[in-house]
Amino acid sequence: MVFPWARDWQLRADTVYLNHGSFGLAPQPVLEVHRKWQHALAGQPMDFFVRRYEPAWLEARDTLAAWLGGESDCVALLENATVAMNVVAQAFPLQSGDEVLVTDHEYGAVVRTWQAACSAAGARLVTAEIPWPLHDADEVVEAIFRAATERTRLIVFSHITSPSALILPAAAIAAEARKRGIAVCIDGPHAIAQLPLNLTELGCDFYTASCHKWLSAPIGSGFLYAAPKWHSRLLPLVTSWGRIPPTEPQRWWEWFVWRGTRDATALLTIPAAIEYLGERVGWDRFRQETHALAQQARERLLERWCGTCWTPDDPAWYGSLVTVPLPPGDAPSLQRRLWEHHGIEIPVIAPGSARWIRVSCHLYNDAADLDRLMIALERELNEESPHSWQLSTVPEDRDV
Ligand SMILES: Cc1ncc(COP(=O)(O)O)c(C=O)c1O
Repeated sequence: MVFPWARDWQLRADTVYLNHGSFGLAPQPVLEVHRKWQHALAGQPMDFFVRRYEPAWLEARDTLAAWLGGESDCVALLENATVAMNVVAQAFPLQSGDEVLVTDHEYGAVVRTWQAACSAAGARLVTAEIPWPLHDADEVVEAIFRAATERTRLIVFSHITSPSALILPAAAIAAEARKRGIAVCIDGPHAIAQLPLNLTELGCDFYTASCHKWLSAPIGSGFLYAAPKWHSRLLPLVTSWGRIPPTEPQRWWEWFVWRGTRDATALLTIPAAIEYLGERVGWDRFRQETHALAQQARERLLERWCGTCWTPDDPAWYGSLVTVPLPPGDAPSLQRRLWEHHGIEIPVIAPGSARWIRVSCHLYNDAADLDRLMIALERELNEESPHSWQLSTVPEDRDV
């Protein structure tokens, strides 16, 4: 089935794009709004920057905050999750001997960010291993808190993990951390649009995300949510006026509105992306349809290569993004051959000695894309090793 909205995406004709999870593309109605903002900037920069930019920033921020179920005063718009995470890492009070806890499924750049913050402070980065296979969300919570000590000051984890596409039980982790007086920073780029969110109820200290992934806003749009107790510490990575015309910022987010002359039109387009997926398509519909395709991908891949996944087949564990084990082998080579020989963009990941493929399903994808993937994999895996499709579903070395 082809979704009626598929025509809104103008994907290059030579590509089967199954990697929205790495770099999302925006649909035409959203790009049109983005172009209008870019035109306004290019046509009369003074009018744009001095009169139009701030009200539009505030409107975009308020629309996003309302949709996320967070207070406007707790949200600042930023280019992406990486910038937001670095704002937190720069501000979080760490002392020698403190510990920051992450899981072994975190995005590599996030781990690097916290490694740097920990070494600057003489703190320690501790990694909790998520067990395999998983049956119950409590197993994740238990694994994380088994690695916590009285020195743990902060837990940083993905709402939906990047390599393994697992939905982690964010509310339960945050609740347990609150009981123990540990702060929580959730790395959420994959959760935005894939999951309904209420940041106030979630009760985390920080939430960082990009809107250019599943929400399909233009590249260069993201945000930082911070609970009120942290506001006085947070500053942008680059200091500038904060507001235009310059006034002394009274609230933390005011430092983030004007961060030097730059093209921030992607941020102003966030409301158009929320409107597109939420009203034109409908959130339930977006989630159900893209999950159904991801489920189909999971089933077909597991059946063909006799694998088993590490979670039950349940929307509580994965949404529009799914990672499935393949026979072990050279992951970068397979990813390259899928693109060069078949025009398929899809990440193939090598956690330790295993090999996984991660399938992103957005509204421009359909079963025909999965057919192309299955045929391509059949050919490429056959070339590699015609008789030895041995699966190791539980990697020996789980350094994801
Ligand atoms: C879990 C996770 N966190 C953070 C990021 C960084 O996102 P960005 O490059 O948009 O800042 C990514 C990107 O893929 C990710 O998957």
